[in-house]
Amino acid sequence: MAQIFNEESHTFSEYLLIPNLTTTECQSHNVNLKTAITRYKVGEREKALTINIPLVSAIMQSVSNHTLAIALAKEGGLSFIYGSQSAESEAEMVRMVKSYKAGIVSSDSNLPIDSTLADALKLKKISGHSTIAVTDDGTSSGKLLGLLTSRDYRLSRTNLDTPIKNLMTPIERLVTAQDGITLSEANDIIWEHKLNQLPIIDNDGKLIGLVFRKDYDSHKDHPNEILDSRKRLLVGAGINTRDYMERVPLLIEAGVDVLCIDSSDGFSEWQYQTIKWIKANYPDMLVGAGNVVDADGFNYLADAGADFIKVGIGGGSICITRETKGIGCGQATAVYNVAKARDAYCAKHGVYIPICSDGGIVHDYHMTLALAMGADFIMLGRYFARFDESPTKRMMVGGKYVKEYWGEGSNRARNWQRYDEGDTKGGMLFEEGVDSYVPYAGSLASNVQNSLAKIKATMCSVGSLTIPELQAKARLVRVSATSIVEGGAHDVILKNSQSIDL
Ligand code: IMP
Repeated sequence: MAQIFNEESHTFSEYLLIPNLTTTECQSHNVNLKTAITRYKVGEREKALTINIPLVSAIMQSVSNHTLAIALAKEGGLSFIYGSQSAESEAEMVRMVKSYKAGIVSSDSNLPIDSTLADALKLKKISGHSTIAVTDDGTSSGKLLGLLTSRDYRLSRTNLDTPIKNLMTPIERLVTAQDGITLSEANDIIWEHKLNQLPIIDNDGKLIGLVFRKDYDSHKDHPNEILDSRKRLLVGAGINTRDYMERVPLLIEAGVDVLCIDSSDGFSEWQYQTIKWIKANYPDMLVGAGNVVDADGFNYLADAGADFIKVGIGGGSICITRETKGIGCGQATAVYNVAKARDAYCAKHGVYIPICSDGGIVHDYHMTLALAMGADFIMLGRYFARFDESPTKRMMVGGKYVKEYWGEGSNRARNWQRYDEGDTKGGMLFEEGVDSYVPYAGSLASNVQNSLAKIKATMCSVGSLTIPELQAKARLVRVSATSIVEGGAHDVILKNSQSIDL
């Protein structure tokens, strides 16, 4: 006989936090949002991998590439580079984040020497950048042979078939600097030689990155940025349960800090085997798993050795898993139940395994609710897809600026490995995600800072200065459908409404 749970499952919009006493020390600047994201023995929290803000970006083509990863790490959060690409290109994105130095950017527009002006124009259109590094192998870390900028050709006069080697400024005539140079030394050279950009190369002439005059001008300190022991930004990467034996070594070689198995349903023997293989071959490599929505799923992956466990099935904004497969659980209920399982596991085994609430965050206050209900950190897709730094281009649709955002289970991403059973005989016959637009929202830094300000203000209202304190003190109440209407502006005519209907 099937088991039917008596409790309904619920989502974040159905809850509110009841304020606790706000003491005088409860002020936003005293709130600490640091959070441990990988397992640790009780009493050894400092040994866990820690991020400075509890936000990570989704393992998705339309969200987490190297540009978003760099921008988010500078704000204190972590990206998981999408795995639905070749292992080589995923490793290359990881490498670009790891080789990033403030003000020195990894070149993301590169061509091999045998390219033509037509190739350069095509690349410029995709990347939006007019400076192209010409390297021996056409990658961002190849031997630098020259630079091509829009000053090197006149579109009306130059034939598109012209080889770029005839147009570029060759390395012999370029001003370059050696790896190890400080940013302020690079800036001096830029001013002295009136340059727009300065390539940095290593002893073998291989490209390390470029310093742009404009970037230096706008460079600010990022007190929250998350760094490894060698002062490089932290970055994660998504993997699947099929090609991990080939993919994981390449990602590790590129310097990845933490992996995450990306699947809509993680309660599977495929994930168990993947975790075991990674831990047997790379005992120090950190790997998260998921997604699950209940204690059984959590305990299974915890026993397998997962370093963190992701929670959420069907709540993502682009997700139609619940409609197509009828599996899932309201996100708030899932987080709460898995958090209880995590605490019970910790009490029994003396090991704390952080959980990540993945998907379904619509309003900023949902982030605080997810944390209050027990999440150690939160994964977001739609939220980050809207920013300048996400991989897609800004476009105008219906008079509004938008960016594209598509699910990993959509035909566009074709990331079937996230959805099938993990064996090689599977093969998806239906989509679990949609292709959509999201409103363009500007820079990651300004949006994230705004969201954090709201999280901190709410935490102060709950009388808490840290995430564990919030979880210990939070008191939540379910709200009726009518109360939800009462929660928004109501019974007034908004001044900026399109039409006034009195
Ligand atoms: P969002 O923040 O609500 O947009 O949700 C993002 C999350 O949705 C991701 O982290 C994934 O867990 C999940 N997701 C991504 N692509 C798909 C899809 O195509 N179908 C179902 N879920 C998806």
